[in-house]
Amino acid sequence: MVLVERRDGVATVTINRPEKRNALNAAVRAGFLGALDELRADAEVRVVVVTGAGDKAFVAGADIAEFSERTPVDQHRVMTGRSLHEETERFPKPVIAAINGHCLGGGLELAMACDFRIASTRALLGQPEINLGIIPGGGGTQRLPRLVGLGAAMQMILTGEPIGATEAHRIGLVQEVVAPEELMPRAHELGRTIAARSPVALAAAKEAARASQHTALSEGLRVERGLYLLAFGSEDKDEGVRAFLEKRPPRFTGR
Ligand code: COA
Repeated sequence: MVLVERRDGVATVTINRPEKRNALNAAVRAGFLGALDELRADAEVRVVVVTGAGDKAFVAGADIAEFSERTPVDQHRVMTGRSLHEETERFPKPVIAAINGHCLGGGLELAMACDFRIASTRALLGQPEINLGIIPGGGGTQRLPRLVGLGAAMQMILTGEPIGATEAHRIGLVQEVVAPEELMPRAHELGRTIAARSPVALAAAKEAARASQHTALSEGLRVERGLYLLAFGSEDKDEGVRAFLEKRPPRFTGR
């Protein structure tokens, strides 16, 4: 239910349940977490692109059919187990969301846990949980206000109505909007650009920028200094500086 393809240092993870609009059931969650485990350990992979199979959906949210069978105790077990959102956010390599269609509920929450998002003009993004009598439970009430501000987030969370790609771009929820046929080529182009950078510096940059979302400025600056010094001590830094001085492209190894 989750496909993994690797090319030029970029792995594409495709959530592959198009007949159910790529809704996140237990099998998809397990497949996605398994893919992250595999890609974390693969030094050849420098960047991950996440997308949905088919032309209709990125991910249409949690599998609603599973809700009706669950007690709060079952649901608590699911929500305190391994989380796709948190593991994507903490993943030590950049993760780009390529949003090809409906991106709803847990799907938008997954996209928001990625480092940035590009969308096709066909994308529709929303937090429709309110229509089911529940609220976002995969970080939506926390990550959406941090990304777009409280007012825009409240409007989406309280109405449950999706917004189109252009509006999502306007409020800063997605960073680029492209024609549907351009989505994966553009995601891979961005992926290859990032994959040419130092994996040490990428991991450090991601962790430092992430810290800005949950720390006071003074603490975030301390985190930044520590991670800067980590990158400063890397072989990649020696290579990057030498390559600049020798006027040639650097060859980073991740050491
Ligand atoms: N959970 C379980 N099944 C889902 C699903 C979800 N989140 N989203 C879609 N599906 C299933 C539908 O039940 C349908 O199954 P069926 O063919 O067995 O009847 C199939 O996927 C196709 O969905 P359909 O609604 O016919 O497709 P559409 O293209 O007309 O509409 C959506 C797509 C995404 C707008 C619509 O399916 C929808 O609103 N889904 C629910 C979104 C949601 O509320 N997510 C938040 C969950 S907390």
